[in-house]
Amino acid sequence: MLSIVVLISGSGSNLRALLEACDNPLFPAKILAVGADNPAAGLAHAEQFGVPTFVVEPGLFDSRENWAEVLLRNLEYHKPDLVVLAGFMKVLPAGFVAALSPNIINLHPSLLPAFPGAHAVRDALSAGADATGATVHIVDAGVDTGPILAQREIAIPTGISESDLHEQIKTIERSLIVEVVSQIAEGKLNLSERSS
Ligand code: GAR
Repeated sequence: MLSIVVLISGSGSNLRALLEACDNPLFPAKILAVGADNPAAGLAHAEQFGVPTFVVEPGLFDSRENWAEVLLRNLEYHKPDLVVLAGFMKVLPAGFVAALSPNIINLHPSLLPAFPGAHAVRDALSAGADATGATVHIVDAGVDTGPILAQREIAIPTGISESDLHEQIKTIERSLIVEVVSQIAEGKLNLSERSS
């Protein structure tokens, strides 16, 4: 059984998909805890499933490194096999990533390497792209640059708003992240091999 800690910043719809999947006793992973960088609305999903939560807010620390060290200590307390960034919107310092590598994956709302960063959906629309999608990748020291594990593409309908397109992407993200976690748990995806 693969043990996971999920980190979020927002509404947590992808977290919820993982919580629902892990609620099935036949699913090969379980969520030990959910962490956030703010009192995110999505933490309520964890509470509904009886999963412990923690919040470590960067604003309470004098440096990004000190914040990340306390975040890391919270993760290490739970000793997960895998950390899943599911809508976690803070860039993590290299030391934090190195302490967990390669067992830390991120979900991103574009077909990387296209449109990295915090505004992937807006950037795809501004660029006039006719397709976009979702990517799950291993986190490395860069921003959305790590080895890609899985992607799914969708067409961008003409005239669609940023929020509607993001909702369409989230629909495919939810099944993609559940699928990737299941493949890692079953040994079908080997993170050490993929990161070398
Ligand atoms: C998701 O679309 C995820 O890919 C994105 O935040 C959203 C979170 O939605 N992450 C990033 O943009 C990271 N760069 P959710 O809170 O409903 O799961």
